[in-house]
Amino acid sequence: MAELQKGLEGVIAAETKVSSIIDSQLTYAGYDIDDLAENAEFEEIIYLLWHYKLPNKQELKELKEKLHEYMPLNDSVYNHFKEYAADHVHPMTALRTSVSYIAHFDPDAEDEGKDKKFERAIRIQAKIASLVTAFARVREGKDPVMPNKDLSYAGNFLYMLRGEMPTDIEVEAFNKALVLHADHELNASAFTARCAVSSLSDMYSGIVAAVGSLKGPLHGGANERVMNMLSDVKTVDAVDDYIDEKIKNKEKIMGFGHRVYKDGDPRAKYLKEMSKKITEETGQSQLFDISVKIADKMHEEKGLIPNVDFYSATVYHSLKISHDLFTPIFAVSRTSGWIAHMLEQYRDNRIIRPRAQYIGETNRTYLPIEERD
Ligand code: ACO
Repeated sequence: MAELQKGLEGVIAAETKVSSIIDSQLTYAGYDIDDLAENAEFEEIIYLLWHYKLPNKQELKELKEKLHEYMPLNDSVYNHFKEYAADHVHPMTALRTSVSYIAHFDPDAEDEGKDKKFERAIRIQAKIASLVTAFARVREGKDPVMPNKDLSYAGNFLYMLRGEMPTDIEVEAFNKALVLHADHELNASAFTARCAVSSLSDMYSGIVAAVGSLKGPLHGGANERVMNMLSDVKTVDAVDDYIDEKIKNKEKIMGFGHRVYKDGDPRAKYLKEMSKKITEETGQSQLFDISVKIADKMHEEKGLIPNVDFYSATVYHSLKISHDLFTPIFAVSRTSGWIAHMLEQYRDNRIIRPRAQYIGETNRTYLPIEERD
C-alpha cells in the first residue's frame, strides 16, 4: 500500500484545467490572476472556469440575463428562513441547509444529463447570492430585496443585502474580491465537492458538502475570525503582546499560513491594497494599521505571511457587511470554482475512494455484554 501522507500533502488527486498554482502563481484556465483581478468582471470568471475560455459579448450577455432570471427564490425559501433559529444560527449553517432546500424547487435536480448541467450550474450560482443576502435580511426582520437587472452580480449582491444602490467604488472592490476568491485548485472544499459527486450524486449535494468544508476556521471560516482578532486587539500598540501570548499558547493566528504558498499568496496583495484604500475612505485606517502590524509581527516571529482571508476581513467590514457573512461571501464566489470542479469530475469520473492505514487493535473476540468490564 502507498505511504500515508497526512492531510494528503503533496498528493496529486485529480487532473484539472480550472486553475493552477505553479511557483506561487495562481492562474484560472491559464490566465494570470493579476490580469483577471485588474480587468475582469466576476461573470466573466464564472464563464471562464466552466468553459475554459472567456465569453464573447453574446455569451456574457446570455449568462448575465440567466443569472438575473434565476436570482429570485421560491417564496417557500424566504418563509423557511423565518423558521431558522435566527437569533443564533450561523449564516454558514443557514446556507448549508438552504442550498439543500432549493433543490426541492428544481424540477431537474436529479437529472445529471449533460444538457441540464450548465443550466443547473447557472441556477445554483444565481441563487447562492440570494440565499446569503435574503437570510441576512430575514433574520433582521426585513423583507428580501429582488435583484436589479441593471446591476452586475457583485452590484446585485450588495444591493440585495443592503437594499440601497451600492457606489461604483463599492461594486469595484466587491467584484475584485469575488474574482480573487473564485477558485484555488484542489483546496479542501473543492476536493470535498469532487468527492461528493464522484459517486455520481447531484450538484446540490456537492455544494452542500463544499459549504460544510469551507465553514471550518482552517479554511474559509478564518476571515470572520480575523475580524474578531482585530476587534480584540483594538490598537497598534497592543499587537505585540497579543501575538506573543497566542504564540506562547501555541494558538493559530487566523489569516496566516497556507499549505501551498510558503512565500506569498498572490491574492493577498490586492486585498491589502483594497483594504488600505477602503479603510481610508471610510475613516477606519486604524484597522488597516493594526493589520499591517500583525502581519509584520507574524513574519518576524513565525516567518508566516497573510493568506487571502487576512485582508479580505477589513474590506468586507468597510463595506458594512456583518462579520458572520464574510465566509458565506467566500462561498458565493467559490461556488463558481466548486461547480467547475464538479463539471470536470462528471466528465471524467472515477469514484474517489482512497485507503486508510489501520492503526487500531486486532484479533479481538466478541464478548457477551455480561462479561465486559
Ligand atoms: N498561526 C500560527 N502558527 C501557524 C499558522 C498560524 N496561522 N499557520 C501555520 N502555523 C505553524 C504551525 O503551527 C506549524 O508549526 P510547527 O511546525 O512548529 O508545528 C507550521 O506553521 C506548519 O503549519 P501547518 O498547520 O502544519 O500547515 P498546514 O499546511 O497543515 O495548514 C493552514 C495550513 C490550515 C492554512 C494553517 O496555516 C492555518 O491553520 N492557518 C490559520 C487558519 C487560516 O488562516 N486559514 C485560511 C487558509 S486560506 C483558505 O483556506 C482560504
